[in-house]
Amino acid sequence: AQQNLLLLPGDGIGTEIMAEVEKLIAHLNASGQSDFATDTGLVGGSAYDAHGVAISEEDMAKALAADAVLFGAVGGPKWDDVPYEVRPEAGLLRLRKDMGLFANLRPAICYPALADGSSLKREVVEGLDILIVRELTGGVYFGEPKEIHDLGNGQKRAIDTQVYETYEIERIARVAFDLAKTRDNRVHSSEKRNVMKSGVLWHEVVSAIHANEYKDVQLDHILADNCAMQLVRNPKQFDVIVTDNLFGDILSDAAAMLTGSLGMLPSASLGAPDATTGKRKALYEPVHGSAPDISGQGMANPIAMIASFAMALRYSFEMVELADKVEGAIASVLDEGLRTGDIMQDGCKKVSTSEMGDAIIAK
Ligand code: NAI
Ligand code: MG
Repeated sequence: AQQNLLLLPGDGIGTEIMAEVEKLIAHLNASGQSDFATDTGLVGGSAYDAHGVAISEEDMAKALAADAVLFGAVGGPKWDDVPYEVRPEAGLLRLRKDMGLFANLRPAICYPALADGSSLKREVVEGLDILIVRELTGGVYFGEPKEIHDLGNGQKRAIDTQVYETYEIERIARVAFDLAKTRDNRVHSSEKRNVMKSGVLWHEVVSAIHANEYKDVQLDHILADNCAMQLVRNPKQFDVIVTDNLFGDILSDAAAMLTGSLGMLPSASLGAPDATTGKRKALYEPVHGSAPDISGQGMANPIAMIASFAMALRYSFEMVELADKVEGAIASVLDEGLRTGDIMQDGCKKVSTSEMGDAIIAK
């Protein structure tokens, strides 16, 4: 059956890197390897210029109806002074909220050709392939009360509240176990149950979901501080790491830097499974922003965007072999020494955004 993809290129380099994914999709369709129907919408500053909003209701409806959304990047100096409610980021926040995207997936993959560009030793990072599953809509970023009190004696008191309910932990645990089954079948669940009640509940709920529904997946529990240490010391021991919003924010940024450049990092955000089809709503996007400093010059690295499309193949469409093929093509153009400016190394060949895209498609 035909599969519907909504492309939201956004602003700045978002349009340049999305153009490379469009070429790749056209190639896969033409060669009979896929049957995607694509539609395109506006988000961020480009939607503001056209409609005065960060995303139109029409494009929002398309996003909700699509099998998956590919998102480029939003923002730029042109829109720094637009009203707060319609600022470019509001488009992404609206998508996350209305699509119910509670699970954020951040892979850390180290391509062999770039292993020496990492700050860590080659043997520690070469071949690294881990996936951090971060709870995105709960925890201390949203818990109430959240306030600062003036105590009147020159002192203030700041309060943030970490709140998790059983259902929130159950659904993120299921995402992690389901993903592990498509990978190396191992999950580390990370919290701090030694000092936090939410950690105690997290440990209890993840253990119960495992025992009742995913006995065939290996589960280990690891305290978040130890997890941070192990990510730097021996990251290849991990496959999938599931954790809360705060620890996930920190651990995923730390893991990202095991791999080199911002221009290489894809991500996905998933929602609840549809009651009839079982398919999860999903949005795939590079971790980086719209890079106004290099936009319009054909300098952007399209790999994070192309790797985000590969994640869509893997996680929304169960096209695992094709996802492997796309990721393999990325690895081999890097092996051959092709580099955009952001990942340039001595002795390598500097290429433009579209030359990099073409080389990956040719592979
Ligand atoms: P940024 O990620 O756009 O750029 C940071 C640095 O990395 C820049 O020097 C940029 O040239 C470079 N870079 C990023 N992606 C690259 C790529 N694919 N290839 C080569 N180099 C790349 O972050 P920055 O500069 O803080 O923000 C710029 C704009 O993007 C702002 O308006 C910001 O609000 C927005 N932004 C949007 C995000 C999104 O759409 N999800 C995420 C982060 C920032
Ligand atoms: Mg962060």
